[in-house]
Amino acid sequence: MKALITSGGRGTRLQPITHTQNKHLIPIANKPILHYAIEAAAEAGIQEIGILINADSREVPNAIGDGERWGIRITYIPQDAPLGLAHVVKISQDFIGDDPFIFYLGDNMVVGGVKRFIERFRADRCNCHLTLARVKDPSRFGVPELRDSKIVGVEEKPQRPKSDFAVAGIYIYDSTIFEAVNAIKPSARGELEISDAHQYLLEKGYEITYSEITGWWKDTGKPFDLLEANRLILENMPEDIRGAVNAGSQLAGKVIVEEGARIIDSNIRGPVIIGKNSEIRNCYIGPYTSIYHDTKIQNSEIEFSIIMDHCKITDVGIRIESSILGSDIEIIRAGDKPKTHRFILGAQSRLEIV
Ligand code: DAU
Repeated sequence: MKALITSGGRGTRLQPITHTQNKHLIPIANKPILHYAIEAAAEAGIQEIGILINADSREVPNAIGDGERWGIRITYIPQDAPLGLAHVVKISQDFIGDDPFIFYLGDNMVVGGVKRFIERFRADRCNCHLTLARVKDPSRFGVPELRDSKIVGVEEKPQRPKSDFAVAGIYIYDSTIFEAVNAIKPSARGELEISDAHQYLLEKGYEITYSEITGWWKDTGKPFDLLEANRLILENMPEDIRGAVNAGSQLAGKVIVEEGARIIDSNIRGPVIIGKNSEIRNCYIGPYTSIYHDTKIQNSEIEFSIIMDHCKITDVGIRIESSILGSDIEIIRAGDKPKTHRFILGAQSRLEIV
């Protein structure tokens, strides 16, 4: 079985971070989101993965490589424009061939892997196996209509959802999905919708079964989803201290200090991860915080945040909380007069001050 993983689209709901970075490469607990999908497929024994990329960018192939580090083979499939998830499947037909495959949206994260869903697909001998997760806001997702524990309809982002389930971004298909994606027409928003392909399969009498995801599953589409996913991953990571922690520092709870990181005279309350070659001096770093590599933080307090690489945070007098900082960002205390806030912010930056 092959896997098809998405890394295209424009990530508009995660701007400004995605102005300079593909959303699938944003680190969650110091690992790019896309790694989680690749690792889930590799762990399920899949050796050939197709990754869908935006045709105008080599960012993902440059960051991910040929798959050798996971012992798998990666083929990149370019998409000229984000024309929809059914379009992704359609243009991947040559790569997939006739065998069943797993379609995994590269911005989705699920605990417990995907092996169990593949096993269910095989046991059910169906044409399509969907994964469903109960959510508070189904109208953000594809939503199934269920009758007697069977899926009888699927609608994309309905105003009036027919259940409180979302169709999660992990799908397993046999080759009948190609009949569907070649038959459907673009939706009102101009995309070939994967939900319309599912509806087509149902109308033609093909068999769709499902598994309910009872653990956690996240679609990392919006900023708060990133913080939530980061929290959930950190909660499940084992403690691991490889960097240097001086005697004047206090570590409590699960803390990961990567190689070359230095913790000096600081109070770290896990779950927290501090990335390679980062330096934390005279700080408080609170629960659910990930600090990526080569970042320097001094005389500051941070909690429930994702701070990416090469940032510099110095003498910030108020605790930074629920924040996401992209690469190479500086927040420093201005020493000179007049005593004012000075901002140099790119388009769509968001700053909350007290
Ligand atoms: O996360 C689950 C939801 O994913 C499902 O419930 C929906 O039925 C499904 O349509 C999808 O909705 P989203 O609005 O979250 O899809 P999004 O546009 O964020 O794209 C999902 C992934 O696919 C993401 O990795 C970006 C990538 N993508 C998307 C499109 C439309 C592409 O690579 N190419 C595309 O043309």
